[in-house]
Amino acid sequence: MERNQLRIVVVGHVDHGKSTLIGRLLHDTGSLPDGKVEELRAVSERRGMPLEWSFVLDAFQAERDQAITIDTTQIWFKSALRDYVIIDAPGHREFLKNMVSGAAQADAAVLVVDAQEGVREQSRRHAYLLRLLGLRQVVVVVNKMDAVAHDAARFAAVRGEIEAYLAEIGVPASAIVPVSARHGENLAIRATSMDWYEGDTLLEVLDRFAPQTSPVDQPLRLPIQDVYKFDERRILVGRIETGRLGVGDTVLFSPTNRTARIRSIEHWGPGAAPVEARAGQCVGITLDEQIFAERGDVLSHAESAPMLSNVFRAHLFWLGREPLRAGKQLKLKLATAEASVRVEAIERVIDTQSLGSGQAEEVRTNEVAEVVLRSRETLALDEGSRTPATGRCVLVDVYDTVAGGVISMKGYPDQRQLTVRKATNIHEVDHLLTRDLRSARNGHKGAVVWLTGLSGAGKSTLAMRLEKRLFDRGVQTYVLDGDNVRAGLCADLGFSPQDRAENIRRVGEVAALFADAGLVVLTAFISPYRSDRDRARQAAGDAFHEIHVQADLATCEGRDPKGLYRKAREGKIPEFTGISAPYEEPEKPELVVDTAALGIEECVERVMAYLEERLRPGA
Ligand code: ADX
Repeated sequence: MERNQLRIVVVGHVDHGKSTLIGRLLHDTGSLPDGKVEELRAVSERRGMPLEWSFVLDAFQAERDQAITIDTTQIWFKSALRDYVIIDAPGHREFLKNMVSGAAQADAAVLVVDAQEGVREQSRRHAYLLRLLGLRQVVVVVNKMDAVAHDAARFAAVRGEIEAYLAEIGVPASAIVPVSARHGENLAIRATSMDWYEGDTLLEVLDRFAPQTSPVDQPLRLPIQDVYKFDERRILVGRIETGRLGVGDTVLFSPTNRTARIRSIEHWGPGAAPVEARAGQCVGITLDEQIFAERGDVLSHAESAPMLSNVFRAHLFWLGREPLRAGKQLKLKLATAEASVRVEAIERVIDTQSLGSGQAEEVRTNEVAEVVLRSRETLALDEGSRTPATGRCVLVDVYDTVAGGVISMKGYPDQRQLTVRKATNIHEVDHLLTRDLRSARNGHKGAVVWLTGLSGAGKSTLAMRLEKRLFDRGVQTYVLDGDNVRAGLCADLGFSPQDRAENIRRVGEVAALFADAGLVVLTAFISPYRSDRDRARQAAGDAFHEIHVQADLATCEGRDPKGLYRKAREGKIPEFTGISAPYEEPEKPELVVDTAALGIEECVERVMAYLEERLRPGA
């Protein structure tokens, strides 16, 4: 049988014995080069100190510092069953960077906790990180059992502590093993000093873990690194992070949404050109047509494409020396793409101690936070817990790496479908009438008066009153209201981010048609996403007027005209705007009416006053 390979990370508080554990594990599994131990023993004696197993790692580190190869953060050991790769050096900062940037992807993790000290802040933070990274195979070792006289009761206490925390964050520990790394107890060799322990040794637990889905079996992701131009030909170069591709495949480029077929996979040596390539390989490909592609684009198959968005969440590990605040502009590195992003909001700072999701103004060094990031351009991205290569990012402030992040699209729609046109062979037909002719007959211009705001902010009430006022003054007008439209035109849509985006896309297009026909359309939709409203604005052009119907959440919840907030708070409505789904306030609305501060009549007056001039023909 072919020996498989398991990639593991060793995490835990800085003084809890990670290096010793790794060094001793290497020794006990016979994985050290011949003479290594004697060499270290001699060095220790010369210095007049006992042999420390962590010296093994120091020795590796010294070799590594001189090495020229890039891939040197890997340490190997083996069991009877298979090979193991420890994919990081146990430095806190490096660990975070490696793990989060997706450069390294582990199948399993070993969390080291000191039997004397118990669970510490860093143990918690690392455990939390494992969860965010989607690691589900975790073994905990309670180390330094020799220092607590191999006491069963002390072990039980620490085990209880770590179990409770892991249960809370949803990381199941496969086993909790009492060990002494220094004496090699219960790592690869069963300890005689802890007869009361009947479970497996660390190595036995590791041997039970399964390698995760091989990157080859995941959807294709090929981030383009470079485009080389040779006379007429263009060769796209990059590393296949996941999946496979073959000559003749139709591939999709993101974020540009263009497709082409692969004509060839280039090769330089002798022999026939390859017809297939797979995860881990660096390839150069040519296409059957010259489409525009550049560094940063992600190539996939159409049926399993990454998501497109200019707004998304990230769980950040903030390493910056200065605290992070909302509004901060940073450079995002995501696979081979780079983009300027703004920290739109700090949603919560996670206290890994209490797991409290504190509202905080800033994120301090080494804290974990959930933030909303917005980029100017649309980016191709994936869920970071599933697809590291295109779902984990690094944030850079000028030259310094200040954060690693795991991307999540929770609460935000994939924008891909909103911009594609399916039909081909379309020829648009011109009207014989113009807008001016229509507005001359109506005595007013057409317009889209787009009311946006939280549920219960007063959009529908305001829209209906405005409709009546305008009608009484001879204006051709009509209200498109969320609850009404969802009974017909949008009856197939719910409240997922995706469905909301499609809801607003349709309404935006319909409203633009109404306005073109000469009507003053009033729309009353929450329309929580800024990019959706921007698209509606594009559809209607300068006939578009965005009005923020403002009322703070507490006011809306106090009104609760349909009893929906109460239900949402009881957990009976998932993804309720303002409670469990986002609302992005307009950045530059044409008008704001504050229904919490003003009476409804006053709000009607303000909108009427705003429209007065703007509806006049020729204005
Ligand atoms: S939008 O988000 O897609 O713009 P829309 O304005 O059409 O929403 O519909 C919002 C109305 O649907 C609310 O006023 C409320 O009555 C009802 N509703 C039902 N479920 C939800 C929900 N999960 N979030 C917000 N509104 C909801």
